[in-house]
Amino acid sequence: MKPSSAQGIKAADGFLHRWLPPLLFVGVVALSVTLLYRATAPVVFVSSTSRRVDFIHAYPVVPKQQLAASVPPPSLYPPPELQYEPASSAPAVPQDATESQEMRLERVLKAAATADNAVIITSLNAFWSTPGSVLDVFLESFRIGNGTRELLNHLVIVAVDDKAYERCVAVHRHCLDFKVEGVDFSAEKVFNSPEYLDMMWARLDFLRLVLEKGFDFVFSDVDIMWFRNPFPYFYSDGDFQISCDRFKGDPTDLKNSPNNGFNYARSNNRTIEFFKYWYSSRARFPGVHEQNVLNIIKFDQHIRDIGVKLRFLSTERFGGFCEPSRNFNKVCTMHANCCIGLRRKINDLRAMLDDWRNFTSLPPDVRISSNFKWSVPQTCRIPPGFFSKKEKTPQV
Ligand SMILES: *[C@@H]1O[C@H](CO)[C@@H](O)[C@H](O)[C@H]1NC(C)=O
Ligand SMILES: *[C@@H]1O[C@H](CO)[C@@H](O)[C@H](O)[C@H]1NC(C)=O
Ligand SMILES: *[C@@H]1O[C@H](CO)[C@@H](O)[C@H](O)[C@H]1NC(C)=O
Repeated sequence: MKPSSAQGIKAADGFLHRWLPPLLFVGVVALSVTLLYRATAPVVFVSSTSRRVDFIHAYPVVPKQQLAASVPPPSLYPPPELQYEPASSAPAVPQDATESQEMRLERVLKAAATADNAVIITSLNAFWSTPGSVLDVFLESFRIGNGTRELLNHLVIVAVDDKAYERCVAVHRHCLDFKVEGVDFSAEKVFNSPEYLDMMWARLDFLRLVLEKGFDFVFSDVDIMWFRNPFPYFYSDGDFQISCDRFKGDPTDLKNSPNNGFNYARSNNRTIEFFKYWYSSRARFPGVHEQNVLNIIKFDQHIRDIGVKLRFLSTERFGGFCEPSRNFNKVCTMHANCCIGLRRKINDLRAMLDDWRNFTSLPPDVRISSNFKWSVPQTCRIPPGFFSKKEKTPQV
């Protein structure tokens, strides 16, 4: 599509006259469509100077001697079961200035992990964490979901600014303070702005680190409601499993369009290699966010060479507003995707919780035989067919 310089200025001029207006139009449509999708996604930390998140060096390094002098002998540490008090009675994480970022990561992951070393991770900034905001609705879904309350013991909230961290500590046990000095991630980020992209990519790099520490994880955006425990429904043969905006019916079909707001990864050499490759692919597609880059590289020969088994999760269990899970007896999670604006999102997330409460209050026999329907999307509703064609091909 690009005019070659050999065509000369005149030709390029003509080309521009003919193609610029339609190209601009396509660009505007593409932008607004993607905006609707991942707008205001909560995110993570990055140093603005180095693109790659160097976890260990992101924080001021405490000299070794100083560290040694101030760290008490192991016997003085509280036993693990006392380290994390419920949110109501004590701050979740003692602020220890001498603890390195990496030690803190390991400590928080270990405390939150299941017996088989899995954690649930979400990331949070101030914008999403104010009282009555998305975080509250997110946590509420775990409390009223079927068998999800105990999963809160395994949820790590990665806070990317002071406010989010404060809020996390007030309401949850496992909080990871991941602020990077001098970088402000607290505000709503404009979709596809350099800062937004940095955050999304930083998040990806962070998750690679979690894998390297030996933990399997479920990553969930904070605007996803958890109604059932998803672990029994992951494919037993999948290394990396990801939710979809629309599901084509075959979990191995690479043409499924992934939504990176929810994914599951098993810690092994294949997934670590896969995350590294994914992250490094940013350089090939400047300005494209990580979800769309995945949508391109999923076909790469190198992915096949790594041998990582990718699986796409059915919207029947892992739904969203783009394609709701239709069966209340099966739904695990519902994502407020295909929705723009915080107010609208919160409104429909709350409505979703009301639907669920109504469903669970039915007598069991009625519940199982009834064809209970979502009342959402309401304020998130978009015209039918709006997404149908445009979403399928990534706009590179
Ligand atoms: C990766 O492979 C090496 C050797 O092949 C093995 O020792 C190591 O445990 C593997 N790491 C993980 C995380 O599976
Ligand atoms: C839930 O049930 C209440 C009481 O039966 C009813 O008033 C309300 O409309 C229901 N809400 C939805 C979303 O179905
Ligand atoms: C919750 O799960 C249990 C066990 O799987 C099941 O018996 C019960 O009917 C479920 N309740 C709802 C509301 O789905």
